Amino acid sequence: MAEQDDILIQVRGLRNSFGEQVIHDGLDLDVRKGEILGVVGGSGTGKSVLMRTIIGLQTPDQGEITVFGQPTIGREATEAIDVRKRWGVLFQGGALFSTLTVAENVAVPLREFYRDLPQALMDEVASYKVVMAGLPADAGPKYPAELSGGMKKRAGLARALALDPELLFLDEPTAGLDPIGAAAFDQLIASLQKTLGLTVFLITHDLDTLYAICDRVAVLADKKVIAVGTIDELIALDHPWIEEYFKGPRGRAAVAAKDEVADIRPRSADAARHPTEVEAHATGQQAQGNAADAHARGEAGTR
Ligand SMILES: Nc1ncnc2c1ncn2[C@@H]1O[C@H](COP(=O)(O)OP(=O)(O)OP(=O)(O)O)[C@@H](O)[C@H]1O
Ligand SMILES: [Mg+2]
Repeated sequence: MAEQDDILIQVRGLRNSFGEQVIHDGLDLDVRKGEILGVVGGSGTGKSVLMRTIIGLQTPDQGEITVFGQPTIGREATEAIDVRKRWGVLFQGGALFSTLTVAENVAVPLREFYRDLPQALMDEVASYKVVMAGLPADAGPKYPAELSGGMKKRAGLARALALDPELLFLDEPTAGLDPIGAAAFDQLIASLQKTLGLTVFLITHDLDTLYAICDRVAVLADKKVIAVGTIDELIALDHPWIEEYFKGPRGRAAVAAKDEVADIRPRSADAARHPTEVEAHATGQQAQGNAADAHARGEAGTR
C-alpha cells in the first residue's frame, strides 16, 4: 500500500491519563516519511508524554500506534528491538548520564543494541558522532558538567545519532540556547535531515525553528492534535490559539527573521536506509527516559 509506506508514525485514538488528569483523548497523528514535523502546544499539553508514548516508554489507556508499520504499544523491549534501533531520541533536558563522558554517553545505545561490538569500533563510532553533532573532537572525554548548555544539546544529539537512525525524536532541542546557538542547532538538524534523509519528530516552543526548518506543524490542544499543516495552512484556520501563537509579536518576529535567511533545505527528502547488522538487547532508552524525567520537570523551553 503505497500511501501507508509514506506514513512513518501513525497514532490513532490515543488516550493517556495520570490518575484523574486526562492528558490525551482521541488523539490522532500521522508523521510522513522524510518530513520534519514540528509539534507545538502550550506547556503541559502533553507533547513529551506523546513522544514517550510513541517510543513505548509510556503505556496509554487506549489507542493504536505504529512506527515503521510496527505496533509499539505494550510490546516488550526485546520484541520491539528491530523498530527501536531505527530511531534516535533527544530527550527534553538532554538526559545525559552525568557520570559518563560525552563519548561514553554516545556509546550507550551502541552498547544497548550491539553488545558485542569491539570497544575500538565503539570508540570510533562515538567520536564520529561527536563531530557529526558539531562538537569539537576533544569534547569526547569531557563530562556533561564541563559542557555549556549548547554543547550538552549537541552531545545529546550525538547520542541520538549513534545508531544511524532513520527517525529522530527531538524534545525541545533549542530550549535554553541563545538565539545564535539555537539557529546554528536548527541548521544542524536541517542539514542532517537532508544528508541522512531523516524523518524528524520535533517538539518545540521555538517559532524560529518552526519557520526555519519544519515542513508541517502539529498543534496539540484540548487533549488532541487539533490541526496539522504548513504554518500558512494553520494560520488560515482562524483558530484563536493558533492565531495568537503564530501571529502574536513573537510569531511576527520569527517571520521577519525567516525572510532574512535563505531556506537551506528542499522540501521532502527520500529517507536513506541505514541497514543494521547485529542483534542485541534493550534497556538504555528507558534509562535515558527516566533520567530525562528527573531532568526535564519544569523546563519549559523558550528562548
Ligand atoms: N510520569 C508522570 N506522572 C504524572 N504526571 C505526569 C507524568 N508525566 C507527565 N505528567 C503530566 O502530564 C502533563 C503533560 O506533560 P508533558 O511533559 O507531556 O507536557 P509538555 O507538553 O511536554 O510540556 P512542556 O512544554 O512544559 O515540556 C503535565 O501536566 C504533567 O505534569
Ligand atoms: Mg515537554
